[in-house]
Amino acid sequence: MFEHLSMAPPDAILGLTEAFKKDVNPDKINLGVGVYQDASGKTPILECVKAAERLILETETSKGYLGMTGIPSYTDHIPNLLFGADSEIVSNQRSAAVQTPGGTGALRVAADFVSRQFPHSKIWVSKPTWANHQNIFKAAGLQVEQYDYLNADKNGLDFDAMLASLKTIPAGDVVCLHACCHNPTGVDATTEQWGQIAEVVAERNLLPLVDFAYQGFGDGLSEDRSGLAQLIRPECELLVCNSFSKNFGLYGERVGGMTVVAANQEQAQTTLSHIKLCIRTNYSNPPKHGAAIVSTVLDSDELQTQWVGELASMRERINQMRSLFVDTLKAKGVEQDFSFITRQRGMFSFSGLTPVQVDQLKNDHSIYIVGSGRINVAGMTENNMDRLCTAIASVIG
Ligand code: LMR
Repeated sequence: MFEHLSMAPPDAILGLTEAFKKDVNPDKINLGVGVYQDASGKTPILECVKAAERLILETETSKGYLGMTGIPSYTDHIPNLLFGADSEIVSNQRSAAVQTPGGTGALRVAADFVSRQFPHSKIWVSKPTWANHQNIFKAAGLQVEQYDYLNADKNGLDFDAMLASLKTIPAGDVVCLHACCHNPTGVDATTEQWGQIAEVVAERNLLPLVDFAYQGFGDGLSEDRSGLAQLIRPECELLVCNSFSKNFGLYGERVGGMTVVAANQEQAQTTLSHIKLCIRTNYSNPPKHGAAIVSTVLDSDELQTQWVGELASMRERINQMRSLFVDTLKAKGVEQDFSFITRQRGMFSFSGLTPVQVDQLKNDHSIYIVGSGRINVAGMTENNMDRLCTAIASVIG
């Protein structure tokens, strides 16, 4: 039965990691997958995470299954982080969060829920969006459409075009919005623009599915929720997928969440009962360790403060690399204006490099960048910057 199969194409992002691992060049640089690296090029384990793990090791008494929705103290923290502890959503208890295997797991649970309950609703994603969004939504049986996002230079938002295309979306469809640190472009709407997006969402009766994978990597934990906050109106309905892969550095522990916001507490609980069905028929119940770390950190004022500090250091280092990258390219004589990179936020930027240049960087310089030209700024360091910019200068010609 398998004989007729030919090789499937490699994944646009994770396929690159596979190729990077095989590359024997000691000076290779990975700017592909969205994983943070520190100044020495390592993906560190946060100190607050290590401290939480020591506590867990001492106190954990069982490896029994979690419930389908995960660790209760963990899912209690999620709405506070997403909406703020003082949000009306929290006080009215009109949200319900489930623990998921990473942000990808959250998106799949949300997509399965939409597909089962609203089989005629299409889902709209930004053009461009994270390479895996379309795959996940299609795998759940959803029809995927695109709304406009980037300007013609591909380095800023074309807000008028975005709003105009959102206004064409039929009522009852789902619109996937990136809360902050848009992946792959690093281009976000301003809070004021989010207000206008929220108007269209409310007027047209669209269901927002908000992908919040980079909270804290833009301008700060609370600052990064300012767009999402615009969507919050009395009785609004939302699906929010979040990830702790990046802001806790817990990539391989697969720790995320899917939160439904409904008009009231009763509807939130009813909706949750259907979401549980999606979980049970997918992975049954989530893995424990990563979420235990997050809840241990967030349960402790001391560890939480430490986390906020460590997150700020990661964010600041990325922003320093943005400036250093632009300055170094200029110093190498590159005339093309890359200053937009310092205005973008999060791990990624659209570099404007063409697929041919991306290939040249890989084949001739062992520098790995996603085919779309998306670069992971968090993979840049002071040590690899010179080599990186020399190579880019040479392929730009
Ligand atoms: C990325 O976009 O690189 C990350 O979200 C990791 C992934 O799974 O693609």
